[in-house]
Amino acid sequence: MKPEDVKKVGVIGCGIMGSGIVEVCAKAGAEVTYVEVDDERVEQGRARIEKSLARAVERGKISEEDRVGAMSSIHGTADYEEIADSDLVIEAATENLEIKLEIFRTLDQLTRDDIVLATNTSSLPIVRMATQTKRPDKVVGMHFFNPPPIMPLLELVRGITTSDDTLEFARGMGERLGKTTVVAKDRAGFIVNYLLTYYLNSAIRMLEEEFATKEDIDTAVKLGLSHPMGPFELLDLIGLDTMMAVAEVLYDEFKDPDVAPPPMARRMVHAGYLGRKTGKGFYDYTS
Ligand code: 3HC
Repeated sequence: MKPEDVKKVGVIGCGIMGSGIVEVCAKAGAEVTYVEVDDERVEQGRARIEKSLARAVERGKISEEDRVGAMSSIHGTADYEEIADSDLVIEAATENLEIKLEIFRTLDQLTRDDIVLATNTSSLPIVRMATQTKRPDKVVGMHFFNPPPIMPLLELVRGITTSDDTLEFARGMGERLGKTTVVAKDRAGFIVNYLLTYYLNSAIRMLEEEFATKEDIDTAVKLGLSHPMGPFELLDLIGLDTMMAVAEVLYDEFKDPDVAPPPMARRMVHAGYLGRKTGKGFYDYTS
């Protein structure tokens, strides 16, 4: 199948990343069905997409007509059967290997065996998901960045079983979605999260050591390096749970203590201080 022939896209998970991926695919003209674990989560996902599309209109990125068109091509469900006729499925479930393996077994059984199954994992091995299926050559990493409707990069991850055709399809699909693609091998963290984990962990350790305040570290990075956000603002945007899950995977792979989750971040995850999504992280978002 060619990227331009993809009419129906299935997306698994409609959290921060899933909802953004749904939006990006719908804006590119696909009919999108997303699957969430229950009706409440289906509704929460829909609200997220509505909010982001409304903001895109406000910011003059899309017309009101495009917003209505995109919303009408999006359908949410708690029933996996409804994505059986997809031409592409992108998995964006929680960053937990066991959950993802189970999802790939289900997707392999449900969907046509000629379609590509992609995962938005930020760090887990593509080959583990691929080998849950009878089409390991058609499983590839399509790693979007937060927030997916705004960030222009799509990192493609080639597992050792991924075929040339699948990689080319993913590259073409990325272009259709308006993204610039880069290719990485299947190693923990790929390109961006490998670099990002060292950087964010270093910032957390600076704070643990009371070397500087979080406000000053954020200001220094924004004004001294021209980053749009400082490390603590970025951690709150990504979610500490997600970033620490990535750090665990990198530590597991490389056994480098510099990438292990710093104790302060672990405690914050245990307390539910995950960032914007829970209203509190390094900063407070409740007011
Ligand atoms: N839809 C489309 N465009 C939108 C939009 C929307 N819903 N909301 C805002 N925009 C556009 C704006 O119009 C503006 O475009 P312009 O530059 O052409 O005028 C641009 O996006 C930025 O607008 P704002 O500064 O007002 O946007 P926000 O304040 O809402 O968001 C940000 C800012 C884009 C999040 C910016 O702070 C940023 O780039 N932060 C860094 C994000 C980052 O590093 N992400 C990567 C995280 S790592 C990751 O995801 C990997 C994972 O695996 C962990």
